[in-house]
Amino acid sequence: MNLFESLHAQPCSIEGLRESLRQRHIQTHEHCERVVLLADAFGRACGLPHDEQIQLLYSAMFHDIGKIGVPDSILLHPDALAPEQRETMQLHSTMGEAIVRLMQLPKGDRIATYVRHHHEHFDSSGYPDGLEGEAIPRIARMLSILDSYDALRETRPYRGALQHHEAVEIMLSESGTKHDPDLLTIFLQLENMDEFEKKYCDRQG
Ligand SMILES: [Fe+2]
Repeated sequence: MNLFESLHAQPCSIEGLRESLRQRHIQTHEHCERVVLLADAFGRACGLPHDEQIQLLYSAMFHDIGKIGVPDSILLHPDALAPEQRETMQLHSTMGEAIVRLMQLPKGDRIATYVRHHHEHFDSSGYPDGLEGEAIPRIARMLSILDSYDALRETRPYRGALQHHEAVEIMLSESGTKHDPDLLTIFLQLENMDEFEKKYCDRQG
């Protein structure tokens, strides 16, 4: 192996990549950090074995890392996106998959696959592959729930942040279409949502 090959053979630093996302788009970074905290509670409530819990947390941490590659004109767009802009934004799941595959994480191929599929919908209406039901990896189905909840609690350019009960109402209306109904039931029974409530209130204050 020559010098240049050895430079490329080093695994990517977790903290370096987290910081890259923070500098690229702080809102996405903060979203990912909250999703990791929620994922820890959700994974334990689902009884995930230790190795899958680690995979869930890494995939939560990096599920939106592909947004690094989304142009400013779309990532920072002040209004709801037009259909063609939404298509460009949707590329973040496969761009994120490509980034995570290069990180040499333990079980990195699985984590990259979960990142790829975090926007699939239970009824096959999601992207990038339109997978349906249990063809979507379980951890990707969990990520979709976590991602949706946090997104609903965030202020978006076109609406204010929703309260917990408003987010729950929307997610229940998407049970069986967007979300895996069994996993959603477990998520909505998490007992420590009050702790997260404080984080949301702190953020909005
Ligand atoms: Fe995403």
